Amino acid sequence: MKGLVLSGGRGTRLRPLTHTIAKQLVPVANRPIIHYVLEQLAHAGLEEVGIVISPETGTAVRAALEDGSQWGLRLTFIVQAEPLGLAHAVKTARPFLGDDPFTMYLGDNLLGMRLTEVLARFRTEGSDALVLLKRVPNPQQFGVAVLDEAGVLQRLVEKPAEFISDLALVGIYVFGPAIHGAIDRIRPSWRGELEITDALEELLRAGGKVTSSILEGWWLDTGKKDDILEANTVVLDELTTRDIRGSVDAASRVVGRVRLEEGATVERSTIRGPAVVGRGTQVSDAFIGPHTSIGDGCRIERTTVQHAVILPGAVIVGIERLEDSLIGKRALVVADGQAPRALRLLVGDDAEVRT
Ligand code: DAU
Repeated sequence: MKGLVLSGGRGTRLRPLTHTIAKQLVPVANRPIIHYVLEQLAHAGLEEVGIVISPETGTAVRAALEDGSQWGLRLTFIVQAEPLGLAHAVKTARPFLGDDPFTMYLGDNLLGMRLTEVLARFRTEGSDALVLLKRVPNPQQFGVAVLDEAGVLQRLVEKPAEFISDLALVGIYVFGPAIHGAIDRIRPSWRGELEITDALEELLRAGGKVTSSILEGWWLDTGKKDDILEANTVVLDELTTRDIRGSVDAASRVVGRVRLEEGATVERSTIRGPAVVGRGTQVSDAFIGPHTSIGDGCRIERTTVQHAVILPGAVIVGIERLEDSLIGKRALVVADGQAPRALRLLVGDDAEVRT
């Protein structure tokens, strides 16, 4: 079984952040989302993984993953010249995939369960494809599946305008080689993309065996700011143990599960976990609240921040309350005069916000 991670695409919903950073590289608990994806595939016993990248962000994705040896994986980078759809990405990766079965994982999806059981099921059932499904309140934003009373898959539709099912296709799929023929038979959708959902529907129509598994644990598609914040909350809740390597002065308090990286300094401040603070970050006269990730080399001064993701090198000074915010690399957020009591921001890399 091979792995195929999709890390191309445009990431329009996270602009302005994704003008400069691939959405799969946005950090959650100070690690790029795609690192969690590779960890999952390695845990499921995969060894060979193809990474689909775009010409615009491919170099940054390669740099973030290196050769994959930290997960014990062999990586092959595959350039998709244009983001023409998930099925188009599979088509582009065909020379790498050959006729091997493969697990396809969208590089901006996070999953709160391991894949071992799903892969075992795929093998024993002898399916041509296995899809993971999750009940969601907003099915029109996803591909959805219709099951009959016996739980057998009947139809698959990409982003249905009208309600037909609340079972969304999670961005993780297991395929046998029959998917390639189905992809060759489909046409681009109304949004101009070769949809994997249409290829699955075509596979069903041609008599292929497509099975499904309904997910009980959490799943997050991190396409938008609030999704990133939720992912950050969930990952911090699950993963953080207390680990204080930086320095904390006598006038400060660090409470609960907090990871304070080497060289970070905390002065006259309170940090309440779960939270992570990156290397060399300076926190002074501040309150860092729960569910906050602050990257390396930031400066947080006279500010209360909670439920936020702050990327490396950002400087935040004098903000009475910064919450539900995503702040880009090296951005500057400063209260020069009378700042509003609470700020909720999505700030791009190198931007300056003065209130
Ligand atoms: O997140 C689950 C959903 O993902 C499914 O429910 C949908 O059925 C499926 O079509 C997909 O929908 P999205 O509209 O959210 O896909 P998005 O365009 O965001 O792309 C998903 C990932 O694949 C993202 O990491 C970028 C990458 N990608 C996307 C395209 C269109 C590529 O690598 N190449 C591409 O051509």
